[in-house]
Amino acid sequence: MSQFFPNYELVQLGSGIELKVFNCQDTIFQFASVEPNAQLESHQHRESQLGMILNGSLVMDLNGNKTLMQPLSHVYVAESNLLHGASNPLPQMTTSFDLKRITDDSETSILKLLPDEDTITNLPCQSVTGTWFKISIIKIPSGCPIPSHQSEQAEIGFILNGELQITIDNEEQCLNSDQIYYAPSQVLHQGNNLSNQEIYLIKILI
Ligand SMILES: [Fe+2]
Repeated sequence: MSQFFPNYELVQLGSGIELKVFNCQDTIFQFASVEPNAQLESHQHRESQLGMILNGSLVMDLNGNKTLMQPLSHVYVAESNLLHGASNPLPQMTTSFDLKRITDDSETSILKLLPDEDTITNLPCQSVTGTWFKISIIKIPSGCPIPSHQSEQAEIGFILNGELQITIDNEEQCLNSDQIYYAPSQVLHQGNNLSNQEIYLIKILI
Protein backbone atom coordinates (compact mmCIF):
# COMPACT_ATOMS: atom_id res chain seq x y z
CA MET A 1 0.00 0.00 0.00
CA SER A 2 1.24 3.42 -0.88
CA GLN A 3 0.46 6.91 0.32
CA PHE A 4 -0.30 8.00 -3.25
CA PHE A 5 -2.45 5.00 -4.19
CA PRO A 6 -4.15 4.00 -0.92
CA ASN A 7 -6.09 0.78 -0.42
CA TYR A 8 -9.65 0.99 0.83
CA GLU A 9 -11.26 -0.44 3.92
CA LEU A 10 -14.69 -1.97 3.35
CA VAL A 11 -17.32 -0.76 5.85
CA GLN A 12 -20.91 -2.09 5.97
CA LEU A 13 -23.30 0.34 7.58
CA GLY A 14 -25.82 -2.46 8.08
CA SER A 15 -28.68 -0.58 6.45
CA GLY A 16 -27.99 -1.41 2.81
CA ILE A 17 -25.01 0.92 2.55
CA GLU A 18 -21.47 -0.22 1.77
CA LEU A 19 -18.51 2.13 1.95
CA LYS A 20 -15.03 1.84 0.48
CA VAL A 21 -13.04 4.14 2.73
CA PHE A 22 -9.65 5.58 1.75
CA ASN A 23 -7.47 7.53 4.16
CA CYS A 24 -5.47 10.35 2.57
CA GLN A 25 -3.56 12.00 5.42
CA ASP A 26 -6.03 14.54 6.90
CA THR A 27 -8.80 13.66 4.44
CA ILE A 28 -11.22 10.73 4.25
CA PHE A 29 -12.52 9.79 0.81
CA GLN A 30 -15.20 7.15 0.34
CA PHE A 31 -17.21 5.48 -2.39
CA ALA A 32 -20.73 4.59 -1.21
CA SER A 33 -23.06 1.96 -2.67
CA VAL A 34 -26.62 2.55 -1.51
CA GLU A 35 -29.23 -0.17 -2.06
CA PRO A 36 -32.77 0.68 -3.23
CA ASN A 37 -34.76 2.41 -0.47
CA ALA A 38 -31.78 2.34 1.91
CA GLN A 39 -31.43 5.26 4.27
CA LEU A 40 -28.42 6.81 5.94
CA GLU A 41 -29.69 8.23 9.21
CA SER A 42 -29.00 11.88 9.95
CA HIS A 43 -25.74 12.35 11.80
CA GLN A 44 -23.13 15.02 12.40
CA HIS A 45 -19.36 15.17 12.79
CA ARG A 46 -16.59 17.66 13.16
CA GLU A 47 -15.38 17.31 9.58
CA SER A 48 -16.89 19.31 6.74
CA GLN A 49 -18.20 17.01 4.02
CA LEU A 50 -18.93 17.13 0.31
CA GLY A 51 -20.20 14.57 -2.16
CA MET A 52 -21.61 13.78 -5.56
CA ILE A 53 -23.83 11.08 -7.04
CA LEU A 54 -22.11 8.95 -9.68
CA ASN A 55 -25.01 6.65 -10.64
CA GLY A 56 -28.69 6.62 -9.69
CA SER A 57 -29.98 9.35 -7.40
CA LEU A 58 -30.17 10.26 -3.71
CA VAL A 59 -32.30 12.52 -1.58
CA MET A 60 -29.77 14.52 0.45
CA ASP A 61 -30.97 15.92 3.74
CA LEU A 62 -28.91 18.91 4.90
CA ASN A 63 -30.23 20.08 8.26
CA GLY A 64 -33.80 19.16 7.24
CA ASN A 65 -33.57 20.64 3.72
CA LYS A 66 -34.09 17.79 1.27
CA THR A 67 -32.80 17.84 -2.32
CA LEU A 68 -33.10 15.11 -4.95
CA MET A 69 -29.60 14.85 -6.42
CA GLN A 70 -28.92 13.55 -9.93
CA PRO A 71 -25.63 12.00 -11.08
CA LEU A 72 -22.61 14.12 -12.01
CA SER A 73 -24.47 17.43 -12.02
CA HIS A 74 -24.39 18.77 -8.45
CA VAL A 75 -22.26 18.63 -5.33
CA TYR A 76 -23.59 18.87 -1.79
CA VAL A 77 -21.51 20.58 0.90
CA ALA A 78 -22.17 20.22 4.63
CA GLU A 79 -20.29 22.36 7.12
CA SER A 80 -18.80 21.07 10.35
CA ASN A 81 -21.36 19.59 12.81
CA LEU A 82 -24.31 20.06 10.41
CA LEU A 83 -26.94 17.31 10.64
CA HIS A 84 -27.01 15.42 7.35
CA GLY A 85 -28.35 12.17 5.94
CA ALA A 86 -29.43 10.58 2.67
CA SER A 87 -31.85 8.08 1.19
CA ASN A 88 -32.14 6.25 -2.09
CA PRO A 89 -35.64 6.81 -3.52
CA LEU A 90 -35.19 4.56 -6.58
CA PRO A 91 -35.53 0.80 -7.09
CA GLN A 92 -31.90 0.68 -8.28
CA MET A 93 -28.47 0.86 -6.67
CA THR A 94 -26.98 4.33 -6.24
CA THR A 95 -23.26 4.99 -6.11
CA SER A 96 -21.70 8.20 -4.86
CA PHE A 97 -18.52 9.58 -3.39
CA ASP A 98 -18.06 11.65 -0.25
CA LEU A 99 -15.05 13.47 1.14
CA LYS A 100 -14.55 14.63 4.71
CA ARG A 101 -11.93 16.85 6.27
CA ILE A 102 -11.55 19.42 9.02
CA THR A 103 -11.80 22.94 7.58
CA ASP A 104 -12.36 26.45 8.95
CA ASP A 105 -15.11 27.07 6.40
CA SER A 106 -18.83 27.08 7.07
CA GLU A 107 -20.34 26.41 3.68
CA THR A 108 -23.57 24.40 3.39
CA SER A 109 -25.18 24.24 -0.03
CA ILE A 110 -25.99 22.36 -3.20
CA LEU A 111 -23.70 23.57 -5.98
CA LYS A 112 -24.07 22.99 -9.72
CA LEU A 113 -21.23 21.98 -12.03
CA LEU A 114 -20.73 24.40 -14.93
CA PRO A 115 -18.73 24.31 -18.19
CA ASP A 116 -15.09 25.25 -17.64
CA GLU A 117 -11.60 24.55 -18.99
CA ASP A 118 -9.11 22.41 -17.08
CA THR A 119 -6.00 24.53 -16.46
CA ILE A 120 -3.59 21.56 -16.61
CA THR A 121 -4.73 19.83 -19.82
CA ASN A 122 -6.64 22.77 -21.37
CA LEU A 123 -9.44 20.27 -22.04
CA PRO A 124 -13.06 21.34 -21.67
CA CYS A 125 -14.53 20.17 -18.38
CA GLN A 126 -17.39 20.62 -15.94
CA SER A 127 -16.38 22.11 -12.64
CA VAL A 128 -17.61 23.52 -9.37
CA THR A 129 -15.70 25.63 -6.86
CA GLY A 130 -16.59 25.80 -3.17
CA THR A 131 -14.95 27.69 -0.33
CA TRP A 132 -12.53 24.82 0.42
CA PHE A 133 -12.45 22.72 -2.77
CA LYS A 134 -12.70 22.55 -6.53
CA ILE A 135 -14.12 19.53 -8.36
CA SER A 136 -13.71 18.94 -12.10
CA ILE A 137 -15.00 16.24 -14.42
CA ILE A 138 -12.71 15.95 -17.43
CA LYS A 139 -13.07 13.75 -20.49
CA ILE A 140 -9.53 12.58 -21.37
CA PRO A 141 -9.26 11.50 -25.03
CA SER A 142 -7.41 8.31 -25.93
CA GLY A 143 -3.65 8.94 -26.09
CA CYS A 144 -3.92 12.24 -24.25
CA PRO A 145 -1.33 13.05 -21.56
CA ILE A 146 -1.90 15.00 -18.35
CA PRO A 147 1.24 17.14 -18.11
CA SER A 148 3.38 16.99 -14.98
CA HIS A 149 2.25 19.55 -12.41
CA GLN A 150 2.02 20.31 -8.72
CA SER A 151 -0.07 22.72 -6.72
CA GLU A 152 -0.61 24.33 -3.35
CA GLN A 153 -3.73 22.21 -2.92
CA ALA A 154 -3.72 18.44 -2.54
CA GLU A 155 -5.46 16.48 -5.30
CA ILE A 156 -7.60 13.35 -5.08
CA GLY A 157 -8.77 11.79 -8.33
CA PHE A 158 -10.51 8.76 -9.74
CA ILE A 159 -11.88 7.60 -13.08
CA LEU A 160 -15.37 6.42 -14.03
CA ASN A 161 -14.30 3.96 -16.72
CA GLY A 162 -11.27 2.32 -18.32
CA GLU A 163 -7.74 2.66 -16.98
CA LEU A 164 -5.50 5.69 -16.56
CA GLN A 165 -1.76 5.67 -16.02
CA ILE A 166 -0.84 8.01 -13.16
CA THR A 167 2.65 8.85 -11.89
CA ILE A 168 3.08 10.63 -8.56
CA ASP A 169 6.59 11.51 -7.39
CA ASN A 170 8.05 8.72 -9.58
CA GLU A 171 5.57 6.11 -8.36
CA GLU A 172 3.56 4.80 -11.29
CA GLN A 173 0.21 3.01 -11.24
CA CYS A 174 -2.39 1.92 -13.76
CA LEU A 175 -5.54 3.19 -12.10
CA ASN A 176 -8.93 1.49 -12.54
CA SER A 177 -12.35 2.75 -11.47
CA ASP A 178 -12.16 1.04 -8.05
CA GLN A 179 -9.12 3.04 -6.99
CA ILE A 180 -8.12 6.62 -6.27
CA TYR A 181 -4.89 8.56 -6.41
CA TYR A 182 -3.78 11.11 -3.86
CA ALA A 183 -1.21 13.78 -4.74
CA PRO A 184 -0.34 15.79 -1.60
CA SER A 185 0.35 19.51 -1.82
CA GLN A 186 3.47 20.35 -3.87
CA VAL A 187 4.05 16.76 -5.05
CA LEU A 188 4.61 16.43 -8.80
CA HIS A 189 2.16 14.21 -10.64
CA GLN A 190 1.19 13.41 -14.22
CA GLY A 191 -0.98 11.03 -16.19
CA ASN A 192 -1.58 9.41 -19.54
CA ASN A 193 -4.59 7.82 -21.17
CA LEU A 194 -2.82 4.89 -22.85
CA SER A 195 -6.12 3.15 -23.64
CA ASN A 196 -8.08 3.36 -26.86
CA GLN A 197 -11.12 4.93 -25.22
CA GLU A 198 -12.15 8.23 -23.68
CA ILE A 199 -11.80 8.26 -19.90
CA TYR A 200 -13.81 10.35 -17.46
CA LEU A 201 -11.60 11.70 -14.68
CA ILE A 202 -13.00 13.34 -11.55
CA LYS A 203 -10.45 15.36 -9.64
CA ILE A 204 -10.90 17.14 -6.35
CA LEU A 205 -8.55 19.90 -5.22
CA ILE A 206 -8.60 20.50 -1.47
FE1 LIG B 1 -21.30 12.37 7.28
